[in-house]
Amino acid sequence: MKKVSIIYWSCGGNIEILANKMAEGARGQGAKVNLKHVADATIEDVLEADCLAFGCPAANATKIEEEEMIPFLQQLESYKDQNQNKKCILFATYGWIENSFMKIWKDQMLSHGFNVIGELAVKDSITNKQSSMIVDLGKELVE
Ligand SMILES: Cc1cc2nc3c(=O)[nH]c(=O)nc-3n(C[C@H](O)[C@H](O)[C@H](O)COP(=O)(O)O)c2cc1C
Repeated sequence: MKKVSIIYWSCGGNIEILANKMAEGARGQGAKVNLKHVADATIEDVLEADCLAFGCPAANATKIEEEEMIPFLQQLESYKDQNQNKKCILFATYGWIENSFMKIWKDQMLSHGFNVIGELAVKDSITNKQSSMIVDLGKELVE
C-alpha cells in the first residue's frame, strides 16, 4: 500500500477543502493517506511517504504562506537525497493575482529533489470542475 502525505496550510478553509479532495482521490486508489496541517507536520511525515502533495495559498504575487509553510519546506533542502524523485503535487489558492508564485514554488520543490508531476492553482473557492481535477490529481499521485 502506497503511503501518501498531504501537508497543507489553511486559515480560511479553501486549501483544506482541496486537501480533502486530494485525499479522497488518493484513498480511492488504495493509498494510506496522512493528511496534516503544516503546523502539526514533521519531517518524518515527508520522509516516510512514498509520494506527497503540498497545499498552500498565495501570500503575495511571488510567495506562498511564509510563517509556517515556507520554513517547513526550506528544511527539506537538507533531506534532498531521501526525497530524490518522489512524486509530488502542488496545489494552491489565490485571491486576486496568480502571477508567478506557483512557478517559484515549483522551482523550489524541484531544487529539493521532488518530481513535481502536477500543480493546480484555484481562485478562492473550488468549482465543481476543479473539484474533479483535484480528485484526479490525487489518483495520479498514487498510480
Ligand atoms: C495575509 C494574506 C495575504 C494574501 N495575499 C494575497 C496575494 O497577494 N495575492 C492573492 O492572490 N491572494 C492573496 N491572499 C488570498 C489567499 O491566497 C486566498 O484567500 C486563499 O484562498 C486563502 O486560503 P485559505 O482559505 O485556505 O486560508 C492573501 C490572504 C491573506 C490572508
